[in-house]
Amino acid sequence: MRIKSLEEYHLEKENFEEKPENFWEEKAKKFVWYRKWDEVLNWDFKSANVEWFKGGKLNITENCLDRHLKNNGDRIAIKWIANNPNEKNIELSYKELHLQVCKFSNVLKSKGINKGDRICLYMPMVPELAIAVLACARIGAIHSVVFAGFSAKSLSDRINDATCKALITSDGGFRGDKITPLKSIADEALRSTPSIEFCIVLERTKSTIDMKDNRDFWWQDEMKNVNINCTPEEMNSEDKLFILYTSGSTGKPKGIVHTTAGYMIYTQYSFENVFQYQENDLYWCTADIGWITGHSYIIYGPLLAGATTVMFEGVPTYPDAGRFWKIVEENKINIFYTAPTAIRALEAKGNEYVRKYNLSSLKVLGTVGEPINEDAWNWYYNEIGNKKCPIVDTWWQTETGGIMISNLAGINKEKATFATLPLPGIKACIVDDKGAELEQNNIEGKLCVKYPWPSMARTIYGDHQRYFNTYFSAFPGKYFSGDGCFKNEEGLFRITGRVDDVIIVSGHNLGTAEIESAIDEHQNVCESAIVGYPHNIKGNGLFAFIICHQKPKKDDEINLEINNLITKHVGPIAKVDSFLYVDGLPKTRSGKIMRRILRKIASGITEDLGDTSTLLDPAVVEKIITEVKNNK
Ligand code: WTA
Repeated sequence: MRIKSLEEYHLEKENFEEKPENFWEEKAKKFVWYRKWDEVLNWDFKSANVEWFKGGKLNITENCLDRHLKNNGDRIAIKWIANNPNEKNIELSYKELHLQVCKFSNVLKSKGINKGDRICLYMPMVPELAIAVLACARIGAIHSVVFAGFSAKSLSDRINDATCKALITSDGGFRGDKITPLKSIADEALRSTPSIEFCIVLERTKSTIDMKDNRDFWWQDEMKNVNINCTPEEMNSEDKLFILYTSGSTGKPKGIVHTTAGYMIYTQYSFENVFQYQENDLYWCTADIGWITGHSYIIYGPLLAGATTVMFEGVPTYPDAGRFWKIVEENKINIFYTAPTAIRALEAKGNEYVRKYNLSSLKVLGTVGEPINEDAWNWYYNEIGNKKCPIVDTWWQTETGGIMISNLAGINKEKATFATLPLPGIKACIVDDKGAELEQNNIEGKLCVKYPWPSMARTIYGDHQRYFNTYFSAFPGKYFSGDGCFKNEEGLFRITGRVDDVIIVSGHNLGTAEIESAIDEHQNVCESAIVGYPHNIKGNGLFAFIICHQKPKKDDEINLEINNLITKHVGPIAKVDSFLYVDGLPKTRSGKIMRRILRKIASGITEDLGDTSTLLDPAVVEKIITEVKNNK
């Protein structure tokens, strides 16, 4: 399936342009199907309905696991590296992983889980998380992984939104020198989640926890006497595979739904081509499985390709800032995929942490999650890749399921800070504010996709109208990504960042609405507005403009109290970096906060703020600027 040369690359693009359905059908044939599809594609962007490979029957775990057993059963599927460098790594061969998945599938079945039930996974980065994900897929249960950094409130909201029947968690999770008390957080969440029937708890940190009779069961006990055979459930192509929540511009997080066949085909295709994976390469993606990158490029993509995927429990700076590079050396990693925020943080720690290690096994480097600045790109290229590894700058989203815009490593041109070109099979375009496509080079606009691709999200769980409104209403007939994009004189794409109210902080998507509503919980707060501003390490920092009933004094504890509220309502991934207490917020006559102005002020600009004539009270802006100056 792999495109091996520039010639083949162009040929693939031509094949797709000529006969798009044929193009994907050829890819689909490489998988194991229980029944062949009747129709390749059915789509209508006007109602946001898309179906791929209708009539087909399959199971994604048959393709991730069973089909590799005959020839490659002893190959390592998951190589797990513990947080503590002195703890032994775990290697699970395809055979062993298959066995564990079958066993856990039977545990779930014995507890009454059926096809279509939703299961929430709130776990640290341990092999059992991958096992639980695959076990759900094997029996047709829909997994909803919630990142283990989210708060009890975020967890219960997500469980309730999807009415999950079971929760899989662990006593705790190791992260650097800290332990996250996952079970205690889960217990708090479970006080308000009526749909949960039982909870399975993995023992990992041996922390003291409460186990509730008839609700909570130990993973290790359940796995003891369970049947080792489990025939995969026959799934329809469009049966739901998983739900994954992502922050939106407004309101509560969106439960993005991915389905079976299209997601499977696209994750393998993109994995093999973008990273140019070759048999026996050791591949490591440093993401967390709680995010889409972990779903598609730690679990599904690599396992579908029969690769060995490395899974790391810890953090890049523990025990010191050389940890990533130590792991690369010790394991002879060939393909390394991480986020710009990690690159910038490690660059800031100094090169001595890098130069101690032999990184010569590296062949391909990747980045994802936010725009990478030129300095970070150069450091990655020179210091980590030793000027010999191509870098793939991969643009995609939870909603796209797989990588959409990227060079293929070493095949087509790369350019610092440019995601470069859409993959063969992807019709991306840039439009102006009215939705007109900008076909010429050297232009900037909004990034859209105008033709369906197999791994696109199908809906927002329980709210198809919101799915339509969010992605298909701004520019009728096109999927709108929410990102801005510049196309240079050669036609290469550079993502310029979000154009909506999502802020990407350290690679995590945060919705302004979620954070503002947490801030507004403070008894002294009337109203608040959050914007992003450039931050050296995190990409964006959070700047809060807050109106209080009683204006706080400089030494008040309110900043800390507000950050604690955000931790409680959202999770420790979100923290305000700068606070400004103001008397008013710039609003339009229709009551919408004009964030454009606040963004400028937050990034230190106090002149030429653009058109303020539509503001209800333009004097508010002057007052805010005075506050900023007084605050210095
Ligand atoms: C941003 C992560 C620039 C973008 C896979 C997108 C990027 C959002 C890149 C999705 C990149 C992702 N260059 N920006 N290579 N990759 N983004 O859903 O703003 O967590 O819309 O998916 O991250 O974040 P999500």
